[in-house]
Amino acid sequence: MERRAALVTGGTSGIGKAVARRLKRDGLRVAVLDLPRQEAKDFAESEDLVFIGADLSRREDCRAAIDEVTRVFGRLDVLVNNAGFQHIDPIPDFPEDTWDRMLAVMLTAPFLLSKYAWPFLVAGGQGRIVNVASIHGHVASPFKSAYISAKHGVIGLTRTAALEGGPHGLTVNAICPGYVRTPLVEGQLADQARTRGMSEEEVLEKVMLEPAAIRRLLDPEDVAALASYVVSPAAWGMTGAVLDLDLGWTAR
Ligand SMILES: NC(=O)c1ccc[n+]([C@@H]2O[C@H](COP(=O)([O-])OP(=O)(O)OC[C@H]3O[C@@H](n4cnc5c(N)ncnc54)[C@H](O)[C@@H]3O)[C@@H](O)[C@H]2O)c1
Repeated sequence: MERRAALVTGGTSGIGKAVARRLKRDGLRVAVLDLPRQEAKDFAESEDLVFIGADLSRREDCRAAIDEVTRVFGRLDVLVNNAGFQHIDPIPDFPEDTWDRMLAVMLTAPFLLSKYAWPFLVAGGQGRIVNVASIHGHVASPFKSAYISAKHGVIGLTRTAALEGGPHGLTVNAICPGYVRTPLVEGQLADQARTRGMSEEEVLEKVMLEPAAIRRLLDPEDVAALASYVVSPAAWGMTGAVLDLDLGWTAR
């Protein structure tokens, strides 16, 4: 049987990198989409993954990315919308162009990629979309207005797409991690320390992990293990689910 094919956005760093590696290990053919930087291309080449260079804030890049990945594989079974970035500022100071870019990358691009990939995802009868949201898809924290708005929005998109995909065997789910040790979080530690006038150690203990039941950072591979199950044929009955992997953060 022809192997299933997957596209992982933001697939050359952090969580996306771990998901891409895991899906490849699971036997899928995997393409990683990321900003067209040399180190991203080098990563893909070193891991024998297809590289798709695209800026997801650009609509035409979203279209071209799906055209390219389906040309290369001749099919697309799994779409993992994972790319994202963080910006920390209070609302009065939040740069408007950054707001637009964050919404474009983390909410509009998952919609556009789902829309363009849809005919391929339903063709095989067991398509999978996984949207990497966040605990910040459920709850808020100060200074992250655009991120939190995008993540709340992508949960709504997940549920709607699940309802529409169900009759075609296409499942659509969201994964909501707590803090994961990735370059994004390492950057946030530094930003939060600056904004709050704390040391990075204090931010980790008193801000980031204070509400969690288990006070340690997740590893990207923990998220990849959940994604692996969600895209597997065994998970055919799970759709519209918002899956928390959050160290107990939202339990209280
Ligand atoms: N790290 C965490 O604690 C955490 C927690 C919850 C949710 N998340 C979510 O997980 C996802 C991955 O985060 P990460 O921590 O691995 O971050 P990361 O910075 O390590 O990786 C993000 C990737 O997205 C890519 N990207 C950003 N803007 C892009 C654009 N315009 N076009 C194409 N690619 C773009 C980056 O180049 C990078 O490779 C994000 O959506 C993030 O919001 C992360």
